[in-house]
Amino acid sequence: MAKQFAVKPKKTERVDTKFRKIATDIPAPESIPILEALRKAEPLSMTGQPPVLWDRAEGLQVHDKWGNTWLDWSCGVLVASAGHSRKEIIQAVKGALDKPLLHNYCFPSEYRAKLAAKLVELAPKGLDKAFILTTGSEGVECIIKISRAYGQKVSPKKTVVVTFNGDFHGRTMGSQLAGGTPVLKEWVGPTVDKGFAQVDFPSNIRTKDQTFEGFLKALEAKGATAENICLVFPETYQGGSAAFLPKEFAKKLRDWCTKNKIVLAFDEVQAGFGRCGTLWGFEYYGVAPDIFSLGKGISSSLPLSAVIGKSELMDQFPPNSMTSTHTGNPLCCAAALASIDLILKEKLVDNCAKIGEQFIGGLNKIREKYPKNIAAVQGRGLVAGVHMVKPGTELEPDPEAAFSIIERCMEKGLLMFAPVGVGGGTVKIAPPLITTKEAMAEGLAVFEEAVAEVVGGKKK
Ligand SMILES: Cc1ncc(COP(=O)(O)O)c(C=O)c1O
Repeated sequence: MAKQFAVKPKKTERVDTKFRKIATDIPAPESIPILEALRKAEPLSMTGQPPVLWDRAEGLQVHDKWGNTWLDWSCGVLVASAGHSRKEIIQAVKGALDKPLLHNYCFPSEYRAKLAAKLVELAPKGLDKAFILTTGSEGVECIIKISRAYGQKVSPKKTVVVTFNGDFHGRTMGSQLAGGTPVLKEWVGPTVDKGFAQVDFPSNIRTKDQTFEGFLKALEAKGATAENICLVFPETYQGGSAAFLPKEFAKKLRDWCTKNKIVLAFDEVQAGFGRCGTLWGFEYYGVAPDIFSLGKGISSSLPLSAVIGKSELMDQFPPNSMTSTHTGNPLCCAAALASIDLILKEKLVDNCAKIGEQFIGGLNKIREKYPKNIAAVQGRGLVAGVHMVKPGTELEPDPEAAFSIIERCMEKGLLMFAPVGVGGGTVKIAPPLITTKEAMAEGLAVFEEAVAEVVGGKKK
């Protein structure tokens, strides 16, 4: 079972810098009764994150009520891309609140009209319809539905959805079946016709054969062929590792899907809206999908997701047969429009690419100092996976080291979410796209200190 962070204050050194302040022991003693009440009332599954009681979050920082401030390297979970609680987003949400308009189901609204048009405008040419939903998992499920339906039109044999080992697509049943972590779908049980074939993600550090030919062979071994596949659906980069497909692989995959009438989709729920230093993460590959899912950073705040695709895929279902109760909620649409506006006007994609070089470069310098413990740093722009391994092993994940680094960072005022990836050995980092050079330098210095203390034997 994944380790839990203790809800017991630990004697903590005080910190006071431009971006961080630690004014109490951590977890803050006064937060303990609230943390304990949460643990009592919520399922165990909700107890996995560092015990920092969020009271306010603004820009690059998260604050509790007791004078502690963290420099945020989590964005919640890659959501607050334009920064936390941006006043422009708050104003936009207030606009909808003040009208007042809190809900309108699938009845038309100006908010939804503007957002759908904006998404289509920003998407690659030919992807001309946008369907607005609420969660990333819903977007993933929608792509599976659309692609299976389309596959049936091409040939009744086309039922197989290809995804990748280690991929994460969400926690609903279809999205978990699409995901590539067996333990996450044990709950589904053996009775469901899976219709999914998972193969290794080429640039994952543990994948032996990283070629396109190796991918085809692995598919064949699973009984998945060009004739029976309806959809190939990678995460643009793997959430658990921040690994991107090799460019050549992506190009060959695009051609192969086109040739065989297979839908190619990217799950951009994490990668979209500038996270990787390009507006869409898949731009790095120089190819466009037929359809893609979005979420998280789309609004930098309220729950909203979307699917954008070609109308031949998107228009398969007649009126009222592909909808959702909270489709295009006006508050969420207002937040998304304001967030997209900020990302574009403030050129946050360019900032992400620029600061991303400092970020990935800095992490690699740390890796060079601890090559036996850090097997690789993967990522682009402002997302990275730092892969902790047990020294002297064949890339055996080191979840204890990953956990302790995150815990030490929390105690020093640098916030990240709990470890992810294979065996829980990956420290995943995702700072807001508004991160400055100075804030990045401070974050990297704190991170290095934590690594030195956990695996370098440096005294705390
Ligand atoms: C790539 C990817 N797809 C889908 C999801 C599911 O999104 P949600 O949690 O909003 O359902 C996630 C969430 O982490 C994700 O990272």
